[in-house]
Amino acid sequence: MPLVNSRDILLPAFREGRAVGAFNANNMEIVQAIIWAAEEVSRELSRPVDVIIQVSPGAARYAGWSLAAGMVKIAAAETDVRVALNLDHATEIEQVKRALEEGFTSVLFDGSSLPLEENIRLTRQVVEMCHSKGVPVEAEVGKIPKIEDYFTKSEIAHLRSLPPADAVKIIRERTGKSFENLLTKPDEAEYFVRKTECDFLAVSFGSIHGMWDDILPIKLNQLIAIKERVRKPLVSHGSSGILMTQKAAEIKGITLLEGEGTLLDAIKLGGITKINVATAVSIAFINGFIEAWRNNPGEKDFRKLGEHARNRVKEKVKEYVKLFSAGEIY
Ligand code: G3H
Ligand code: ZN
Repeated sequence: MPLVNSRDILLPAFREGRAVGAFNANNMEIVQAIIWAAEEVSRELSRPVDVIIQVSPGAARYAGWSLAAGMVKIAAAETDVRVALNLDHATEIEQVKRALEEGFTSVLFDGSSLPLEENIRLTRQVVEMCHSKGVPVEAEVGKIPKIEDYFTKSEIAHLRSLPPADAVKIIRERTGKSFENLLTKPDEAEYFVRKTECDFLAVSFGSIHGMWDDILPIKLNQLIAIKERVRKPLVSHGSSGILMTQKAAEIKGITLLEGEGTLLDAIKLGGITKINVATAVSIAFINGFIEAWRNNPGEKDFRKLGEHARNRVKEKVKEYVKLFSAGEIY
């Protein structure tokens, strides 16, 4: 079917207390894997599962705007799964304009690096531009950092080799108080939404962009306080790194501190309705590709490797989709 407006996907999910996965796609195999995962989970659960596919300005530079958007449109047209196409982390008005021209059905304008009033001013401009075309806007207040803001590449490689609980301890120590200051303040969130009239709000509640495994607990109390002030779908960023469930915490030996929770808690209690996952998808593809190469060194046919990588992405996306729509995993 044609692309669906993300409002039509997220508002019912918000009312029903479930979440929808928003997965970043950078190539054909990833687009296919996301849609096939949603098709398979729909069959397994005997009910339709929606999905949001995201293209960032970086992905649009990599593939070209028209090809990146075109792949998603064509793949959506060939499935019964409802698919929305979201522009992820636009920081310039020109990027939003281009996305609207290309038929994106959802836009994130990220002014979170700007002073609050400047973020409001530009977001409001984007809201007016997008709403005049019926396209909803996600905006961001508070700052979701990336792991590279705190650690060098070689430190990250070391963290990845550690048992999860040790990595969490080191990350907690390094990020410390400065990280707390980036979290979304509930009163600021309420003010921001009132002034901008954005449709969905991305909030900072303990996640960090670009993590390699789901190990970080979230600040659940902070999130609940935001939810009480903002009666709109909230968006989780940096979700690859968020500890998925209590069970995952036990398996990984990670202790939650007071007021902390998991991704499942964020859905059930914190109003998180859209969950952005990029790094986990990218890692699944890379690992699948390497694995296929190792199993068949010297393979000349790209498709043999790409097929395996695509399968790994599909299995990863299925894990998330099941958790988001049915609270199932592990
Ligand atoms: O906007 C995209 C997401 O926030 C993805 O974050 O790469 O840490 O999963 P992630
Ligand atoms: Zn993000």
